[in-house]
Amino acid sequence: MSETVTKVPPKQSSSLKELVKAWVRFLALVAVLPILISFRLSAAVVGRNRALESSTQLLSLFPGITGQYLRRAFLQRALAKCHHSALVEFGTLFSQAGAILEENVYVGPRCQLGLVYLERDVLLASGVQIPSGGKTHYYDDPDKPIREQGGERRVVTIGAGAWIGTGVIVLADVGKGTIVAAGAVVTKPLPENVIAAGIPAKVIRKRFEKSPESPMLGEVIPSSSAE
Ligand SMILES: CC(C)(COP(=O)(O)OP(=O)(O)OC[C@H]1O[C@@H](n2cnc3c(N)ncnc32)[C@H](O)[C@@H]1OP(=O)(O)O)[C@@H](O)C(=O)NCCC(=O)NCCS
Repeated sequence: MSETVTKVPPKQSSSLKELVKAWVRFLALVAVLPILISFRLSAAVVGRNRALESSTQLLSLFPGITGQYLRRAFLQRALAKCHHSALVEFGTLFSQAGAILEENVYVGPRCQLGLVYLERDVLLASGVQIPSGGKTHYYDDPDKPIREQGGERRVVTIGAGAWIGTGVIVLADVGKGTIVAAGAVVTKPLPENVIAAGIPAKVIRKRFEKSPESPMLGEVIPSSSAE
């Protein structure tokens, strides 16, 4: 009886994948070097934030995976922190060099971000806007145009694992694990693990709350209570 041998192709080990990714990251760094140099030079003249704005406008125009790698290579060296696993999509602009993007953060297309602290595993859908708080301009002096009255910037923190829906405007902190529904405007801090919606955003329910009538999907109901 002849022996049947099925050949199994060698598995691409994850360490090989990581090695390839590290190599691509290096190539991306080489590609963005001219932009980094121009960023550093113009930062010395017009300041880091203004320089960041124009550099991210340019880098936001590169589509697909190439764009993702180029933006990350730049942001890792221009922002206060950008983890190498963070992913920033097409069309997204940054205006504050103090922004922080932690591990596995995803920033969708066409977002506009100021002074933000995006904790690990945060997801921003497309078109999310997070300026540096709601008081970027003071407006109390009736004799001066608003642009001359100064203002303040504060860090807006989006807690680990939060999901911010399409088109949301965030002016205050969002708690860990919280979901903000599409189109909402967050004007007051939101607690952890809730779902909030609307303008201004209000908590509509807790994220892991169970109602007696509707058991959670996949939940096993003991036969005595199911009868
Ligand atoms: C927040 C969200 C997850 C809630 O989903 P859900 O738990 O299935 O909630 P439901 O659809 O059952 O809605 C619950 C209530 O919230 C309201 N609601 C849901 N989404 C809302 C929104 N974006 N704005 C205002 N109210 C909303 C519903 O009308 C409903 O109100 P009711 O109880 O008075 O009828 C979802 O609506 C959402 O906005 N997801 C974001 C989608 C997105 O942006 N995707 C981008 C790709 S990453």
